[in-house]
Amino acid sequence: MYNMHADIEEILISEEQLRTRIADLGETITRDYQEKNLLLLGTLKGAVTFIADLARAIPLPLELDYMAVASYGDSSQSSGVVRIVKDLEGPIEHKHILIVEDIIDSGLTLHYLIDLLQRRNPLSLRICALLDKKRERVKEVPVDYLGFTIPDKFVVGYGLDYAQRYRNLPYVGILKPSVYQGEHRPEKQHQSVAEK
Ligand code: IMP
Ligand code: MG
Repeated sequence: MYNMHADIEEILISEEQLRTRIADLGETITRDYQEKNLLLLGTLKGAVTFIADLARAIPLPLELDYMAVASYGDSSQSSGVVRIVKDLEGPIEHKHILIVEDIIDSGLTLHYLIDLLQRRNPLSLRICALLDKKRERVKEVPVDYLGFTIPDKFVVGYGLDYAQRYRNLPYVGILKPSVYQGEHRPEKQHQSVAEK
């Protein structure tokens, strides 16, 4: 039987490491947002797993909302011009916004999002990112709460995808090169399931 764990070359951050770090982040955020009108703003789809666990590590009556943004042009390279696919449901003037992101790579997406939200005058605007890739940023972004710094490698799992797959891995890992090279493409696997 096919098992997607076999497509992973190396587990970079284990479930246990994620749990421990997110509990710490939750504690710090809880302390910082006492008696504040907090809205956790998750970016779809990558940050969904992270925000679900993070929100449950913050025992405050916070709100959850989501935005989906997509960059224009070549999907493999962030262009910095971002299109809003799904916006917030209401105004944010009386709220403290904490953007919850899965990963910061070039910084372009987040830079655009910060710019856009600042113009809506929230009471405050901060960033919480699970992963920060160690590479040169195209745009500098101020990260207030950070989970882990990782090497400049393409990772999947815990919300992060490769071609929309592997988001449901419970840890963060590096894919085997054979997956990219198409020897064992998820589409193939999909097809074989359909054929059965
Ligand atoms: P950037 O900071 O504008 O370059 O883009 C960050 C976005 O690119 C993230 O929100 C992810 O959706 C995606 N991304 C960047 N690096 C990775 C990776 O290693 N695995 C999966 N998605 C990634
Ligand atoms: Mg993303």
